[in-house]
Amino acid sequence: MRKILSSAIAITLRRTPLVVPQRTQRIAATLISLPLIRYGFYTLNLNDAYEVSIEDNLNEGEMREVQVGPKKEDAVLVCKVDGQIYCVSNSCPHVGAPLSAGFLVGDKVKCPFHNASFSVKDGVHEEGPMFRGLQTFPVKQENGQLVIRVEKQLLNAPRTLNMVTKGDDPTHVVIVGGGVSGQSAAETLRQAGFRGKITIITAEDSLPYDRTPMSKMTFLVKQQGLQIRPQQFYEQYGIDVLTNTTVESIDINNQDVVVGKEKIHYDKLLLATGGTARRPQLDGVNLGNVHTLRQFNDLESIRDKAKTAKNIVVVGASFIGMETASAIKKEFKDQVNITVVDSTTVPFERVLGKEVGGSLQKLHEANGVEFELNAGVKRIGGVGQVQRVDLLNGKSLQADLVILGTGIQPNNKLVKDQLKISPNGGIETDVFLKAAKNVYASGDISSYPYWATGEHVRIEHQNEAVRQGYVAALNILGKPTPLTDVPFFWTRQWDRTLAYSGVGQGFDEVIVDGDLTQQKFVAYYARKGRVVASASMNTPNAQMIISEALRLNVMPSVEDLKEKKVSLDDIKKIVLSKGSSCHCKRAGQCQAQL
Ligand SMILES: Cc1cc2nc3c(=O)[nH]c(=O)nc-3n(C[C@H](O)[C@H](O)[C@H](O)COP(=O)(O)OP(=O)(O)OC[C@H]3O[C@@H](n4cnc5c(N)ncnc54)[C@H](O)[C@@H]3O)c2cc1C
Ligand code: FES
Repeated sequence: MRKILSSAIAITLRRTPLVVPQRTQRIAATLISLPLIRYGFYTLNLNDAYEVSIEDNLNEGEMREVQVGPKKEDAVLVCKVDGQIYCVSNSCPHVGAPLSAGFLVGDKVKCPFHNASFSVKDGVHEEGPMFRGLQTFPVKQENGQLVIRVEKQLLNAPRTLNMVTKGDDPTHVVIVGGGVSGQSAAETLRQAGFRGKITIITAEDSLPYDRTPMSKMTFLVKQQGLQIRPQQFYEQYGIDVLTNTTVESIDINNQDVVVGKEKIHYDKLLLATGGTARRPQLDGVNLGNVHTLRQFNDLESIRDKAKTAKNIVVVGASFIGMETASAIKKEFKDQVNITVVDSTTVPFERVLGKEVGGSLQKLHEANGVEFELNAGVKRIGGVGQVQRVDLLNGKSLQADLVILGTGIQPNNKLVKDQLKISPNGGIETDVFLKAAKNVYASGDISSYPYWATGEHVRIEHQNEAVRQGYVAALNILGKPTPLTDVPFFWTRQWDRTLAYSGVGQGFDEVIVDGDLTQQKFVAYYARKGRVVASASMNTPNAQMIISEALRLNVMPSVEDLKEKKVSLDDIKKIVLSKGSSCHCKRAGQCQAQL
């Protein structure tokens, strides 16, 4: 008989019929000396593992959260796909969203927070903002039961995919840029078995880190906490990272990058140079306490000053500006006045349109943020330090801190005379992210032909930067992999998330389904009569479903959406009926491809 070591365990079982999670049973039980057998399942708390049994009654395409341990997050996800049962971690390795609340399509579970997707067959991540996959756990089918064994140490441990380290392959891949895209490329090279030399060169003084929390959790984040991997990781996998090192020039003909007096020869080059926060050409823009937010040291300067600031002016009513306004106002409430200035008529007008932008403006106003819209900045005034911001409409705003959320300048300087630069400022590539012989570009700096339209686009999203690093690495290794995904981003303001998928540039129509006043809606962006993108708030899984529909090219017509002939549920059904399997071929590791 199995030995029970724990005296008490609270068990919660969440069943997830098809894809809609529902809490159906909550069972608290005390284990003394016998296995718990209730409602057709039992849990054993062994020394180093939990063993759980549930009824073997999942339907095809169903996923179910199964609580295995005492803490809320001690749960796994059991799924039935292609007639087989699979079990993976339930907690998303990004920031811990329960995957059971996400969307299972084919063998792919999509995270409800930021659209990461993982194959439930092997836990490998296909896309997302993070670098880790899911643990997988063995399941036995016995006497009408599914018996799941979960090693405790693996339960909520993020999984790093198998990688090789440096060997005797003489090939040298140089990656210029230590952002998430460069990091993703380096990891993918090692995952795919590349044993040559990898050098990441970054002008920043730190190892690659995640920038996205800086404008959302402004007062919480620490630099080390943002770092993607610790130093040992780079040592273990033989990845050289040259921090505080600026590449001054590149000789594409001779395949050299120049750093100071040194020439570093490459066999393959990845340009992942991202962008630099743009400082508009205005009088006074370089006064003290006028800051942009791109790097961690920018964040330190902003939060330092924000602690004592009485009047903050945010220039630019888009993502960085609005997120930072929300984070600072939330922290200091009435101690600080925050005014957001922009020449547009509502925030986010260019990306989200007037309706959705107006809704977000109201959300900010309800929380005390003020706006000066339709109002360009004339100059920033002060002596040494900023004191005021003068607007083109004649108003003058007092300011002891100015935050410039005025976009980025793509870092294309190194190659602008040698490679083609798109009008959007990105390094122009083909669909394989190749810019020239032996030269690739990925992340915020690449301008690539979007598969759905053929138009060159430059996308500034975290998921896309990670994905492109992955795609570029496979192409560097001679494994032809086109970039065929649907871009996704999220933004978080006042504890609400807006998620967006697609490429909506040049949209000429917006169809809103839902309640903008409550920020509970799905907005569809159409261009020339075709839905090209969508944004949503407070609508679970909307973008996870819509990004799949866009990828499968099964979005309903504008007319059907306008006349409400088709709902999100209908789109979900269409996506599910088409089926969809993990298509990433991640570095040859995905079991689904074998
Ligand atoms: C505050 C903030 C919040 C964000 N929030 C979100 C969000 O919520 N959702 C979302 O989807 N996206 C968000 N983004 C965007 C996302 O972070 C970017 O899309 C992503 O970081 C791009 O990664 P990258 O590797 O392409 O470029 P970058 O992160 O810009 O990295 C490029 C690196 O290259 C280095 N470099 C450039 N030139 C040289 C040179 N000559 N020599 C050496 N090194 C060089 C730079 O110093 C930098 O380290 C946010 C960005 C910021 C700044
Ligand atoms: S929590 Fe899953 S992608 Fe962010």
